[in-house]
Amino acid sequence: MNVLLLIGSPKVKQSNSEALGDCLLGLLDQEGVTTRKIKIYQALKEEKGMEELLSSINTCEALILLFPLYVDSLPSGVIKVMEAIAAQRSDPHSSPPRPGGQTFMAICNSGFPEAEHNDTALAICRCFAEKTGLQWLGGLPMGGGEVIGGKPLTSLGGMLRNQINALQMAAEAIVERKKLPAEAVALFRKPSIPRWLYVCCGHFGWRRQARENGVLKRIREQPYK
Ligand SMILES: Cc1cc2nc3c(=O)[nH]c(=O)nc-3n(C[C@H](O)[C@H](O)[C@H](O)COP(=O)(O)O)c2cc1C
Repeated sequence: MNVLLLIGSPKVKQSNSEALGDCLLGLLDQEGVTTRKIKIYQALKEEKGMEELLSSINTCEALILLFPLYVDSLPSGVIKVMEAIAAQRSDPHSSPPRPGGQTFMAICNSGFPEAEHNDTALAICRCFAEKTGLQWLGGLPMGGGEVIGGKPLTSLGGMLRNQINALQMAAEAIVERKKLPAEAVALFRKPSIPRWLYVCCGHFGWRRQARENGVLKRIREQPYK
């Protein structure tokens, strides 16, 4: 089996999505699967980026999309690729892969601590799969993605044990071409730290960034109100 992982974060390094993806790829490697990772935003910077991306997508057996939640939806570069896939597959002159021949799973992480913020974006992915002939394996939503800080999940001292266990189940589902078990989704949704602690750390982080950028006194300004 060959699995293609698409990373949808525009961050060049230290992306939370990539950290989650690397963990999943490690687990898939243990299952003896051939894996490949492509960062969408970097690929699209190349002259023939979209063409090459579509070609890699068309030749994989399992496609995984891992992205950060942006304004309750998907980042624009990811939407651009989804639109290109849909256009190609509805073109009568193209020869897209056989409907149902490829499986598709999506994994989304958000900045807000509640995992349900990701549900609409994952529903968009499910509809996309239905329209493009991909076999939908399910979606994993994670709230409070900023706890990852772009670091390897296993380096975070057990804080993400539920998410790692869910990714193990996801790897098995991909290999067996089966739907994600409900238990995997439930584990992935679990907060990795208490909500109050996450919010405290969030405030601290915003204030530190504001201080570093010399705008701490202006942090409560609302210029567009
Ligand atoms: C432009 C932008 C829009 C965002 N919109 C949301 C949002 O609507 N809801 C949310 O919970 N987090 C939102 N976030 C936070 C990211 O989803 C979160 O920080 C995520 O962990 C980033 O993942 P990454 O490191 O893979 O890019 C937004 C971040 C940015 C930069």
